[in-house]
Amino acid sequence: MRFDILTIFPNIFDSYLKESIIKRAIENKLIEIHVHDIRDYTKNKHKRVDDVPFGGGAGMVMTPQPLDDAIQHVKKLNKGPVIFLTPQGQTFSQTKAEKLAAKSEDMILLCGRYEGIDQRIRDLHVDLEISIGNYVLTGGELPAMVLTDAISRLIPGVLGKEESHQEDSFSKALNRKKEYPHYTRPATFKGMDVPEVLLSGHHKKIETWRKNKLK
Ligand code: ADE
Repeated sequence: MRFDILTIFPNIFDSYLKESIIKRAIENKLIEIHVHDIRDYTKNKHKRVDDVPFGGGAGMVMTPQPLDDAIQHVKKLNKGPVIFLTPQGQTFSQTKAEKLAAKSEDMILLCGRYEGIDQRIRDLHVDLEISIGNYVLTGGELPAMVLTDAISRLIPGVLGKEESHQEDSFSKALNRKKEYPHYTRPATFKGMDVPEVLLSGHHKKIETWRKNKLK
């Protein structure tokens, strides 16, 4: 599965992609993540990517030319939908992550900055708009990472046996509920004991206990 991310801050992604599960998934060729700098597509001398809004008001708007050129270029490399990360989009969820992972479709993730992007780019190129929650971030980069992470870990082989997603919070297996509490050694910590049933080795009872602890 291939993700192409369009941003004016490509370095934001460096550390995240070089650690842990995502790093391993890239090395194992289960996913490909390509980050593109929108500024490389500017045709003006100062490499400006923003301008004042028509009609006035606070904040700047990302200009259409570099976005249009960047998207046209990336569309030749990636035939998936163009997803724009914006607080105005549909709210992301585990169910949405599952649907996108099941399709195993490549995708282009467009990160906005400032007040937003010129509406004509949305009209021309954007297939789907996604928000990661009802709050406003400084840009779409964190949301793009959230989508990439949540979808990637559902791709078969990305998580090891030890890290299964079958019983994640919000998974079908848990009736879309929040997961039960986890305990590991030692059995007593700062005077607090692990629930007896978890030490019993009685699988049926453990299953029932866990089911009752779902929220
Ligand atoms: N850009 C800024 N805030 C956002 C949010 N909550 N979700 C997606 N993109 C955003």
